[in-house]
Amino acid sequence: MNQYGNFAYVYDQLMDDVDYDAWVKYIENLIEKSGASVKNILELACGTGNITIPLAKKGYDIAGIDISDDMLGLALEKSEAMGVPLVLLEQDMVDLDFDLYDLDCVLCACDGFNYVTSLEDLYKVFSKIYDLLKPGGVFIFDISSYYKLSEVLGNNFMGESRDSISYMWTNYYDEANQLLEMNLDFFLKLDPDEVEGDYLEEGLQDDDNLYERYREVHLQRAHREEEIVDVLKKAGFGRIDSYGDFGFDRPGDQSERIFFTAIKQV
Ligand SMILES: C[S@@+](CC[C@H](N)C(=O)[O-])C[C@H]1O[C@@H](n2cnc3c(N)ncnc32)[C@H](O)[C@@H]1O
Repeated sequence: MNQYGNFAYVYDQLMDDVDYDAWVKYIENLIEKSGASVKNILELACGTGNITIPLAKKGYDIAGIDISDDMLGLALEKSEAMGVPLVLLEQDMVDLDFDLYDLDCVLCACDGFNYVTSLEDLYKVFSKIYDLLKPGGVFIFDISSYYKLSEVLGNNFMGESRDSISYMWTNYYDEANQLLEMNLDFFLKLDPDEVEGDYLEEGLQDDDNLYERYREVHLQRAHREEEIVDVLKKAGFGRIDSYGDFGFDRPGDQSERIFFTAIKQV
């Protein structure tokens, strides 16, 4: 399954309504609330660096890991353009191979662990994170909630038509396996000068309506909050807290994003 290949190049455009500054501020609030002293961060599933770059700018010593070389290439381009040097590694976090131990913080923002689609693999990565953290270090991450994947996105169809990009997003939810298959069809507007010859039947030619179609299929697991807590405990984590939708209260039944902080206890 090719995830975040072609889609990488439209990701930032489609995420332009996300307030990443507020997201970064919220992460800093969670760090403060956890009581951990954080100078270095390993960020998993860092994507195009939307959280990595602002954290680096704030002075954190941060390294990013992602499975998609396309996403990482864009992160690198952006960081170089902004003059923010970043350490970026292409890896599947399920087989996380990082040998700098005693980390202050491991972070994973915006659905990274929804892409880890079995509890066995979650246990594998959580255990490795536990080993990497210093005693007193904090693991911070969020997931799209079970409610969001099973009821809001599940078996739903969404779409948007913009000037330079249009997309259709067709979802199928399999409750037995708690898996959401997301079929993303996107259409990118082409520059007619770059298209050669007659591309349509005579009469249908319209230079303003030339699009190229791409498709990606993404698979996410709808983890229940209690499953995550259980796997964190099995991996060794002690103080575990969860929060709903960028607030500081426990998640509610209809929270769409759940944040977790878990401390490696001394
Ligand atoms: C929704 S994007 C989030 C990117 C970034 N954290 C952000 O907030 O913009 C999810 C990211 O998870 C990455 N990802 C998915 N499965 C992964 C895996 N097994 N190991 C590492 N990265 C993974 C994808 O390549 C993608 O960049």
